[in-house]
Amino acid sequence: MIDTQGQEDSVEAAGETNGLGVSSRRAKLQARKVTIYYWLARAARPFLAVDEIDLDVLEGEFVAIVGPSGCGKTTLLNAIDGLQKITSGTLTLNGQSIEKPGPDRAMVFQQASLLPWRTVLGNVTYGLDLRGTMSRNAAKARARELIELVGLNGFEEHYPTELSGGMQQRVNLARALAVDPDVLLLDEPFAALDAQTREFMQEELLRVWAAAAKTALFITHDIKEAIYLADRVVVFTARPGRIKETVTIDLARPRKLQIKREPNFLAYEDRIWASIEEEVKAATSSQRAVSEK
Ligand SMILES: Nc1ncnc2c1ncn2[C@@H]1O[C@H](COP(=O)(O)OP(=O)(O)OP(=O)(O)O)[C@@H](O)[C@H]1O
Ligand SMILES: [Mg+2]
Repeated sequence: MIDTQGQEDSVEAAGETNGLGVSSRRAKLQARKVTIYYWLARAARPFLAVDEIDLDVLEGEFVAIVGPSGCGKTTLLNAIDGLQKITSGTLTLNGQSIEKPGPDRAMVFQQASLLPWRTVLGNVTYGLDLRGTMSRNAAKARARELIELVGLNGFEEHYPTELSGGMQQRVNLARALAVDPDVLLLDEPFAALDAQTREFMQEELLRVWAAAAKTALFITHDIKEAIYLADRVVVFTARPGRIKETVTIDLARPRKLQIKREPNFLAYEDRIWASIEEEVKAATSSQRAVSEK
């Protein structure tokens, strides 16, 4: 059965979906009427990217955001990471207002962006080295655990150029986990990978997410990927990004990749695709209108 609801009752919905009492899970991340304008210097005018987003992400929850290109997904994720100022509304993590980047959040980008002069081990310890709160040996031991978790043992002394794209993204994930963030922010992390590697990485991510017990917010254009990974899929409208609807994914975990062929999975896909289709059309026509001006 497919269950959809507006964002206002999303906390209750997520609690129910996971079979956990609402009271046992609190909102890790909370957005209230978050609105973000960019300033277009050339045109000397503001540009509305994100409009009054209300979103709760519960502790340990996996939430995916889908929406047309240019609708403001990355803008919102950057604001949660503390890289982008919000224009109005409130954005909190553990009840504290987000003002700047911090060790409680880690971002995984589309491109692995590893330091080419550092080995796999050196890349994974990088954040810990910067923080300087752990001895060299403790940092290396922690990094080795994570390298094992992402299935790369034996590659500790390899350099990024000696790894495939999928392996580099695993290092990126291990690097993000190394600083032990509360929240993992992932912006289309598998978009550059080939189809088979991507499917394999999705399965790996769920395994790592469950083992590390993290809260995750994941942006993707791939509806199947969103359904497979998430407890809830949030559909954005065309720009300015608003939450069109939230679909609770009532599929048992752990999930095998074969689940993507099951009828209830395909029903979710049809449901979300129908929701997003008109937004994609709206985005395409408004982008055409802008480019023709
Ligand atoms: N630094 C910026 N200055 C001005 N406008 C920007 C800036 N960054 C993004 N935008 C605009 O804000 C809107 C939202 O961009 P954003 O990158 O958040 O979209 P997105 O949903 O992540 O798209 P995609 O799926 O293509 O990655 C777009 O119209 C984009 O042109
Ligand atoms: Mg983006």
